[in-house]
Amino acid sequence: MLAGYSVQYWNILTHIRANYMHQNDKKQMVAEAVLDYIDTGQVLGIGSGSTVEIFISHLNKIRSKIDACVSSSDKTSQLLDQNGFRVIELREVGTIPIYIDGADEANKQKQLIKGGGGALTREKIVASCSEKFICIIDDSKFVSKLGKFPLPIEVISMAQSKIALEMIKKGARPVLRENFITDNKNIILDVHGMDINEPIVLERELNNMPGVVTNGLFSQKPADVLLISDGINVKNI
Ligand code: A5P
Repeated sequence: MLAGYSVQYWNILTHIRANYMHQNDKKQMVAEAVLDYIDTGQVLGIGSGSTVEIFISHLNKIRSKIDACVSSSDKTSQLLDQNGFRVIELREVGTIPIYIDGADEANKQKQLIKGGGGALTREKIVASCSEKFICIIDDSKFVSKLGKFPLPIEVISMAQSKIALEMIKKGARPVLRENFITDNKNIILDVHGMDINEPIVLERELNNMPGVVTNGLFSQKPADVLLISDGINVKNI
């Protein structure tokens, strides 16, 4: 009986490990492929998350091409700094030629859900100042309809109940992200089960709610280039 359980447990662990490794390999592949899109002498906008962290680990290969970086989170700034890249403020440049970031979900219109790491506000600001937003994902994140991934919303804490109620009225289930405060000192509500039929309309509607700082829909300004790795190839859609 006990041995039976151990075998089952071992099989589950092996399955999880294989899946994780596979996804990690895909992230490695796309994080390396995007290096070809970077021209010499550029200020680079850089997002957040595990795919971007892998991308940063490859950046050394094209170090001489990069003048400086604009970062979308304190964690990314720290990592860039540790790797010897110059991090400058967005206000010093205004416009950025290329912004590279991951996503939690993407559809074929290159509309995204972002914010799984909680950096959505700065990510949206930096993306909005970029001439070209290149989004790098593995194929597990490519969906026909956005919304399986809970939609993150950064909220000013005094508006928590009000916004949560609005989400419930929409038939969704808001969950406060526990023990988490954003770089901007706000809270995150992860909204499960939101029916996202019209991403642009919903993004605008959520933006208009007092207390919402940013929502994780990137649809009014989607990515310009979406690179997807399936572990064998990297497709540009
Ligand atoms: C960070 O706030 C997010 O928007 C990330 O870009 C997104 O969560 C993707 O992260 P991973 O690359 O870790 O999956």
